Amino acid sequence: MTSSPVDKALAFAEQHREQFEADLVELLRIPSISADSKFQAEIRRAADWLLGHLGEIGLQAELIETAGHPIVYAESPAVEGAPVVLVYGHYDVQPPDPLDLWISPPFEPTVRDGNLYARGATDDKGQMLTHVKSVQSWLETEGQLPLQVKFLIEGEEEVGSEHLEVFLKENTEKLACDCVVVSDTSQFARGVPAITYGLRGIAYYELRLTGPNRDLHSGVFGGAVTNPANALSKILAALVDDDGRIQVPGFYEDVIPLTEEERAEFRSLPFDEAAFMKDLDVDGLTGEKGFSTLERRWGRPAMDVNGIWGGYQGEGEKTVLPGKAAAKFSFRLVPGQDPKKITASLRAMLQQRLPPGIKMELIESHGAPGIVFPFDGEYLQAAADAVEQGFGRRPVFIREGGSIPIVSTFAEQLKAEVLLLGWGQNDDNLHSPNEKFSLADFHHGIAASAALWAHLATVSQTK
Ligand code: BES
Ligand code: MN
Ligand code: MN
Repeated sequence: MTSSPVDKALAFAEQHREQFEADLVELLRIPSISADSKFQAEIRRAADWLLGHLGEIGLQAELIETAGHPIVYAESPAVEGAPVVLVYGHYDVQPPDPLDLWISPPFEPTVRDGNLYARGATDDKGQMLTHVKSVQSWLETEGQLPLQVKFLIEGEEEVGSEHLEVFLKENTEKLACDCVVVSDTSQFARGVPAITYGLRGIAYYELRLTGPNRDLHSGVFGGAVTNPANALSKILAALVDDDGRIQVPGFYEDVIPLTEEERAEFRSLPFDEAAFMKDLDVDGLTGEKGFSTLERRWGRPAMDVNGIWGGYQGEGEKTVLPGKAAAKFSFRLVPGQDPKKITASLRAMLQQRLPPGIKMELIESHGAPGIVFPFDGEYLQAAADAVEQGFGRRPVFIREGGSIPIVSTFAEQLKAEVLLLGWGQNDDNLHSPNEKFSLADFHHGIAASAALWAHLATVSQTK
């Protein structure tokens, strides 16, 4: 009996399940929080861990310094006549707060009910590592891959990928590839794997309002001196009307609308809205009038306040009129919208609505456009076959509402097909307390990835 290279790699992965889980646990123990400068040493530890690991499995690996967090790069040898695949992922994670809501501590990975709980479990250490483990399985059994794989793992995805963007633009030769594989999204539902063909973009801001030069007694001054917290609430509330339409002038001008075909596709997906609400413990949903929940999440813009502060937050009451108030908020964008143009219009609108006695500072942080990929890509069908092999069911094609800022730059600069092969679940609690990754999804992801190299290698070369 001769077995195929994929079978051999799958058998190796099966025999090393526990070792692979242990490796993931090691990486998850490192609190590589990119947003908080106190964790810089931990960021480096995570990068070094990956560097060592990619070298150990037999790849040529290097650490690339940037003006921000380091990039980990590794590659296998070029294979004559076969495609080149760039695998992108991120080793940085979101801050774990609020800490008291975690059942087990965020950086002490713990298995409960077949799920591995830890910050970064699904986003993105666990998903990213599936590709490392499948490459390891191939190299241990076949000694080589059927195509060239280049790993590009960054440490700044959760803060906007600013320095990767620079590196990418300056190194298009080095990163040249036929397709880009990213596992940093979700399946449609449990047992329903998906390939994502569209993501929303983002425009993120911090708005700081300053009123009087000090905190004041709200009885002595209230009603006469403008309270920046009142002003902030009013301004933020005015950004969206009762029909869920964003009020920034010109905001919808460049929006590419959902087509009727696409809306019909979305409707045909087995989305259970009652179960969705039950999971979140909410008794109703809101959003832009005239659109379904999936349309609102995947294909329409949104505004969310991501943090808001000002005034007294401690125990009991304090009758204070605070001197300052601020909020972090963001728009999710859809294809067609330009974050820069939206910022300019937003700034003008805020300035105009500022009440007397209030000064504002608007800080613009990350911005990324939304994207949709064409369906007819050659690598897409090959990937669907691999996902089917790994998960035991053919994937559905979906869009998602999250953003991966560098993805549009990949498409632009590398002229390569981007394959978003998500192994996560919508209830994996990414960015929330008790983030998890199902160990079954981890192993299915490794299997799909092991099959992926063989399937992608069969795509004929036109470049
Ligand atoms: N992996 C997510 C994006 C994602 C999650 C896409 C689920 C689709 C489904 C990524 O790590 C992320 O959180 N991105 C940020 C980008 C931002 C910080 C610039 C986001 O979407 O908020
Ligand atoms: Mn991610
Ligand atoms: Mn994330």
